[in-house]
Amino acid sequence: MRNLTAQSFKSKKGQGKLVVLTCYDATFASLISKTSIDAILVGDSLGNVIQGRSDTLEVTLDDVIYHTRCVRRGAGQDAHIIADMPFMTFQVSTQEAMRNAGMLLSVGRANAVKLEGGVRVAETISRLVQAGIPVMGHVGLTPQSFNEMGGFKIQGRDAGAAAAILEDAVAVAEAGAYSIVLEGIPASLAARITETVGIPTIGIGASANCDGQVLVLYDMLGMNPDFNPRFLKKYADLASVIRGAVDTFGDEVRGGAFPGPQHSFSGEGLYSSATAGSSGAVDARKGGGES
Ligand code: KIV
Repeated sequence: MRNLTAQSFKSKKGQGKLVVLTCYDATFASLISKTSIDAILVGDSLGNVIQGRSDTLEVTLDDVIYHTRCVRRGAGQDAHIIADMPFMTFQVSTQEAMRNAGMLLSVGRANAVKLEGGVRVAETISRLVQAGIPVMGHVGLTPQSFNEMGGFKIQGRDAGAAAAILEDAVAVAEAGAYSIVLEGIPASLAARITETVGIPTIGIGASANCDGQVLVLYDMLGMNPDFNPRFLKKYADLASVIRGAVDTFGDEVRGGAFPGPQHSFSGEGLYSSATAGSSGAVDARKGGGES
């Protein structure tokens, strides 16, 4: 990873594309922190891909703190990690938003928070930034508002709706956010917003007309064969790899091929040193240094 700060992330506007991936655990964080990505988002999409829910509304602040701590351990001290603010952790009052965002940084060890909304959260973003908390905005299709939007639908299709989303993005940028996610909007609107705001726009389902892209890690790795939205490209077919490996394990156990003599002990040798070399957790601890 490029080990960016919120300031250096912001300064990349117009200098090539920024690449962000979601992540929720230390093992994946350790792996992806050794790639060329620019930042990790501990998204409330963990409600979908980790908790198996159909939306993100039940994700709690403690859930995001827990997963952010796991990701920090795996990714190391210098990785740029953004923690999502769950539903109703920033809408009730600015005071509550500040306390909760503070927890995501102080306990979760995130570098920044992300929150959904435009004009109606601009004052909160401004107060968070004044308190020293970098904020990533999120406009367009905001999944926490799916009840209000009538489902998970592309937003900003007509001129009035597009103007409102542009106004939202401008409000978020003017409030001091260092970047903004554009989700589920037409390509022409993404281009307009990207030209207008002075902060990097990070798209998901918002075309190439953005300063960068974000995808949900489990989705782009192809871990859910039944999830195939138009905006998603799968860069691997881990569902097949995982099922194949598990079936092979089952076949070998039943057929007597595993464990072989090389996986068995004769009375000497340390169990823990034998496993340490292949343990993702041990790697993660080396990289992280945070308890
Ligand atoms: O929760 C999440 O993962 C997100 C990204 C998809 C932008 O908000």
